[in-house]
Amino acid sequence: MLIRPKPDLTYADITPRSVYFNRREVLRAMGIAGVGLAGGKILSSLAFPGQTALATSKLSGLVKSPFSTTEKPNSIEDVTHYNNYYEFGTDKSDPAKKSQNFRTSPWSVSVEGEVAKPRKFSMDEILKLAPLEERIYRHRCVERWSIVVPWIGFSLSTLAKLVEPTSKAQYVAFQTFFDPTQMPEAKYGGIDFPYVEGLRLDEAMHPLTMLCVGMYGETLPNQDGAPVRIVVPWKYGYKSIKSIVKIRFQQKEPPTTWNRYSSEEYGFYSNVNPAVDHPRWSQATERRLGEIFRRNTLLFNGYGDQVASLYNGMDLKKYH
Ligand code: MTE
Repeated sequence: MLIRPKPDLTYADITPRSVYFNRREVLRAMGIAGVGLAGGKILSSLAFPGQTALATSKLSGLVKSPFSTTEKPNSIEDVTHYNNYYEFGTDKSDPAKKSQNFRTSPWSVSVEGEVAKPRKFSMDEILKLAPLEERIYRHRCVERWSIVVPWIGFSLSTLAKLVEPTSKAQYVAFQTFFDPTQMPEAKYGGIDFPYVEGLRLDEAMHPLTMLCVGMYGETLPNQDGAPVRIVVPWKYGYKSIKSIVKIRFQQKEPPTTWNRYSSEEYGFYSNVNPAVDHPRWSQATERRLGEIFRRNTLLFNGYGDQVASLYNGMDLKKYH
């Protein structure tokens, strides 16, 4: 079990991993390696030959989650070097290289719309809203690759309850930060920015839907959506919007980036469903990064026991 951050520690104060790493190197050179080490796991995850150290910081006080799969997580290298984050380029290797100078502090998330108590949450406030859980989730991309990630965060519903959604709130809209000067690659992305996503209210309030602030024991690397993102494990990966600055409760179904781009290919619901093909490819199988053989894709990405009842009576082909 790790230690929870002291309440007076701010998000900006948490030592960036690169600094922490350098400090360790200095200590090692002084012959006192081992002082204050958190364990070999983090150390080994740092050692990517020829790659920039991740600018992440250790999160402490993590609690295990009953929602975790027992499947083996992918390596941190897989998860941080095979990304979709179109603001930083369209190649899977682009976000790791091109997001390193992205400024994620100070940061706040505005929660607004059909709520009794709209407010802005700073990252410090978000980190203190609830115990930080490590949740090992399967994450299935519409492009037929999948990974298993030990995310860190808590149910989005914890934050939602604080703002008290009104009876008019039926959907939740999310928006990513956008700054073309920090994200010059975005102009080649082929999609509109800022990136937007949405969920029906009951989906957003489902305990599996996560407000995610970290992974592998640390804050999120920029390429994975620092400093805060949404993770919806039973839906295709594009619903899991990164680096959010706005959460809006509203009556109408919100537009979503990929649905705007091509509504035939990317529905609003986007539940993982091996029986509903993408118009250009089958969704029946997937390749887990790091494996050779393809595996069968599971309905709702294997989370059917928990979420299938949300869609009772719905035609999942029509509402894909
Ligand atoms: N969020 C933003 N802001 N921009 C993006 O391009 N890509 C989405 C989603 N969230 C994307 C985003 C897609 S297509 C996927 S598959 C997941 O992020 C990938 O998350 P990962 O890189 O952490 O695996």
